[in-house]
Amino acid sequence: TEVALRFGNARPIPAVGMGTAVSAPMNAVLAAIEVGFRHLDTAAMYGSERSVGEAVAEAVRRGLLESREEVFVTSKLNLQMEYLDLYLIHWPVCMKPGPIAFPAKKEDAVPFAFEGVWRAMEECQRLGLAKAIGVSNFTTKHLDKILAFASIPPAVNQVELNPVWQQRKLRAYCADKGIHVVAYSPLGGQDWSRTGEGNGVLGSQVLAEIAQRRGKTIAQVSLRWIYEQGVTWIVKSFNKERLKQNLDNFDWKLTEEDWLKIRQIPQKKYVTAAVLFSTEGEFTSVDLADMDVV
Ligand code: A2P
Repeated sequence: TEVALRFGNARPIPAVGMGTAVSAPMNAVLAAIEVGFRHLDTAAMYGSERSVGEAVAEAVRRGLLESREEVFVTSKLNLQMEYLDLYLIHWPVCMKPGPIAFPAKKEDAVPFAFEGVWRAMEECQRLGLAKAIGVSNFTTKHLDKILAFASIPPAVNQVELNPVWQQRKLRAYCADKGIHVVAYSPLGGQDWSRTGEGNGVLGSQVLAEIAQRRGKTIAQVSLRWIYEQGVTWIVKSFNKERLKQNLDNFDWKLTEEDWLKIRQIPQKKYVTAAVLFSTEGEFTSVDLADMDVV
């Protein structure tokens, strides 16, 4: 993970990271650090902030890391560290205060205060609580709203991105505005059972053919393609062999022909607004349906 991508004025973000949704155990995070991951992605919603904090402390104790400074930690709410490298708004969605069970009911949503929330994020950066701030699951329309008033523009937009959901329009927009894109679900996500279909990435014929020809796994082809787009990926694996395999992917390149074939893969979004809201009724907080076309 020496390969780092510059974004804004902040510290460079490693090109690859470990995802910890859902409920990564402390020793899975420690194993990731041991095999060389230096970028950890967590969130209050994943129930893994504690494991990340503990794994980093343990890695320092064991001498795997010299100090906290050696890892880049992204989160979407507070955890037991003095600072975060990157702090993100998890969704352009606001819920009523109090415990909410997901998927939420539409009545649980209140309008998302783009300006108020972003001003608070800017304050976090000014106070040094976060070295950089950004957003997640934002469409170009949501970003337009933030950029209209931001004094610190978002450094990152973290979105679903893989060969089956390439986000070409959003990537072009972000490149134009200097917003670095981070890919979640780089291998297509974890729970396809609810869609009644198989994982579109790991089950892709196009990727399987390239993988076979190049002597790589489908996962490596997908992660390599994302990396070659200049996008940082965050892959979830709690398995040490697969963690290693995902990291051991910097000694080869896709060909132009591979790129063209991947470009032609039919596009399908896996994460929909249904993850957050019950599908009954209209969304009141924000037009999440937008996400399906960006
Ligand atoms: P596991 O923890 O058993 O390795 P996402 O796209 O959200 O990051 O999800 C990745 C999913 O793919 C996880 O369920 C993970 O499961 C699995 N996975 C991670 N790395 C690999 C790999 N190299 N080959 C196959 N499956 C992988």
